Amino acid sequence: MARFPRPPEGTWTEHYPGLGTGPVAFEDSVSPAFYELEREAVFKRAWLNVGRLEQLPRNGSYFSKNLPGLRVSLVVTRDRDGRVRAFHNVCRHRGNKLVWEGTPRDEARGNARQLVCKYHDWRYGLDGACRYVHQEGEFFDIDKGKLGLAPVHCDVFAGFVFVNLDREPRWTLREYLGPMVGALDGYPFDRMTERYSFRAENDSNWKIFIDAFQEYYHVPPLHTHQLGPTPEAQNPEYEFEAAHYQIDGPHRMVTTSGTHKHRWPAEHLYPAEALTRSGSTGPWDAPDLGELPGVNPSGVERWGIDNFQVFPNLEILIYERNWFVTYRYWPTSHNTHVFEGDLHFVPATCARERLAHEYAALTFKEYGLQDCGTLDGTQMGLEQRVFDEFPLGDQEILVRQFHKTVGEWVDAYERERGEGGKR
Ligand code: FES
Ligand SMILES: [Fe+2]
Repeated sequence: MARFPRPPEGTWTEHYPGLGTGPVAFEDSVSPAFYELEREAVFKRAWLNVGRLEQLPRNGSYFSKNLPGLRVSLVVTRDRDGRVRAFHNVCRHRGNKLVWEGTPRDEARGNARQLVCKYHDWRYGLDGACRYVHQEGEFFDIDKGKLGLAPVHCDVFAGFVFVNLDREPRWTLREYLGPMVGALDGYPFDRMTERYSFRAENDSNWKIFIDAFQEYYHVPPLHTHQLGPTPEAQNPEYEFEAAHYQIDGPHRMVTTSGTHKHRWPAEHLYPAEALTRSGSTGPWDAPDLGELPGVNPSGVERWGIDNFQVFPNLEILIYERNWFVTYRYWPTSHNTHVFEGDLHFVPATCARERLAHEYAALTFKEYGLQDCGTLDGTQMGLEQRVFDEFPLGDQEILVRQFHKTVGEWVDAYERERGEGGKR
């Protein structure tokens, strides 16, 4: 029996009639042709998060960001006037990759008055303007004013730096994010500057991993230990249910009710949790951050975590105890992707707080591995193409909506190309 009230229409899924309730095909996750389309139709049209404002702490700061599956590398700067800008990371002289460290495949960050090409020393301001051409007199009719870096549309929301690779983005960033994600403006993300970063190359389509984080139906079987050695978790038929699901345009969110482990009796905790006062839902002691706009939109009692899924590839998980995590997924082929996970805390003020952060980061890695562990299995299973369609339960509503949205974007792209929606 459902523990949380569902909408009057009966189920979360039926609350959004456009979704239907029928079985769903996952051809979009196994087809190389679909991947090629998706790259153009989704990743070259949507606003994509490439970092946080804290990565550009001063005027003159910059970082590069490689998007390998898109065959794009960008350099994001904060120019001398404090404006955040993005450019293709390509020198205007003969096309060398401009900013890198170690090898051209590696990303770089730093602070500089100008960006210097390692090949022939052309130099660019952080506003992208070409400032210096080595032995300029040897060039023919050269006009430095016309030889700047190629700009990319760039905007910032709540400290999240987004780019749009489209020549003319269809929406401003604010229009694109809509009211549900837009309500997070003012949430104190900028206070959480102690960061732990993880990166993994996974053998699955990027959507398969997103699916693993947008339903919690898998929690009792896959994360038995996450639930702790409680009587509920000992029961193999334990039912875990999220408290709230919401859809807004292409974006999605799910709220779970907290486990609030710090209120549990000691015998239900792992010793390390009691020692560090931390665990899979983060440090037990929350910093006081005052008002928290945008979170817990349905007013769930014992609110635990909001997982905002910003289409196409960003998730922002906001925890009741005032820390947050981001996931980003970058497809590199139809059956591989790069996953980036970042944990963000208000900086520790003592060793004990730091230990609590480190323990939360450690458990994050463990549970991330559990989720990752099924990925290539799902990909291999789907690629066998034994079944055309798969049944989805009510708590898999966001999986249903996500694949539908990707399909719609690809259809729209094909229609615009005049190919009549075939694939
Ligand atoms: S390619 Fe950059 S200076 Fe020549
Ligand atoms: Fe999981």
